[in-house]
Amino acid sequence: MERIGILTGGGDCPGLNSVIRAVVKRSLLEDWEVLGFRNGWKGLIDGEFVVLDDKSVSGILPKGGTILGTSRTNPFKNQGDREKLKSNFKKQNLKALIAVGGEDTLGVAQKLVDECIPIVGVPKTIDNDLSATDYTFGFDTAVNTAMECIDRLHTTAESHNRVMVVELMGRHAGWIALEAGMAGGADVILIPEFPMSIDEICQMIKRRHSRGKTFSIVAVAEGAKLVGGEEVADKKLDEFGHVRLGGVGQLIGELIEKKTGFETRVTVLGHIQRGGSPTAFDRVLGTRFGVRAVELVKKGKFGRMVSLKGHDIVDVPLSDAVKSLKLVSRELYDLARVFFG
Ligand code: F6P
Repeated sequence: MERIGILTGGGDCPGLNSVIRAVVKRSLLEDWEVLGFRNGWKGLIDGEFVVLDDKSVSGILPKGGTILGTSRTNPFKNQGDREKLKSNFKKQNLKALIAVGGEDTLGVAQKLVDECIPIVGVPKTIDNDLSATDYTFGFDTAVNTAMECIDRLHTTAESHNRVMVVELMGRHAGWIALEAGMAGGADVILIPEFPMSIDEICQMIKRRHSRGKTFSIVAVAEGAKLVGGEEVADKKLDEFGHVRLGGVGQLIGELIEKKTGFETRVTVLGHIQRGGSPTAFDRVLGTRFGVRAVELVKKGKFGRMVSLKGHDIVDVPLSDAVKSLKLVSRELYDLARVFFG
């Protein structure tokens, strides 16, 4: 019996279990055994895995997170890890590995492909910032969760005549803040791609209030910066060299209150956006990605990533996905700005 491996790496996201289930079900049709490596690349380094069969994936479709666990382990960070990983790959006699992840996990996958490890990638991230695919799964759920929270903030903002600043995830790209902000009717949206000055933000809020509105919603991506300012983060780095972001909402909220005199409150949505059951869109996308990933393995198309282009699932070079991040365009941001203030 041939064997393939699967792992989920980086931040968890809704829809990962849909991919795992689809990979197992499609592999069973080939009579392949599937090994699920625990906690991302760490599982392959430590040789920690579970055999996934029909029973292990039963009932997991609506579950958030990942039944395999995940981590931000980077096998290129600590000496000897890459060798251990390769030796476990060989020891388990794997025909191929399916790596489900975002820029970091798939960046590692690309480097391993360059060292002749047969890998197929599946794009995952709530941030939707991976290139070479129109959407990553997890994003739709995160946006819908964030939109619902913004709807809730609206009613309390209106009752108290307050400005509500809501900080959303989005490290380098502002997709969640932009789409949840647009869908939730935010009055100003701040994203990393297009810094704004605090005076411009306050002018927009004042303009709105001069039209008789008594409350405002400001959606801020965690990676947003004020013109001339820095990212707000603590200095601890993860294994891929990323800082932990957070605090820009508080900073902007305090400045708004000081400069406009409007009472302001700040809400940080944080990991609420990553948790919970996936939307139908993410379940279907994860399922389609998982099935197609196994078919790529069958065809021996390694170093490729499954991708959504329009309504179709296609495959693209992994290198295209990881060479640069997919950012919000000026055109889309200008469209969103029509509704600011
Ligand atoms: O996975 C992407 C992401 O959710 C980013 O939006 C966020 O900055 C980061 O992960 C948070 O990571 P962690 O859960 O490790 O704090």
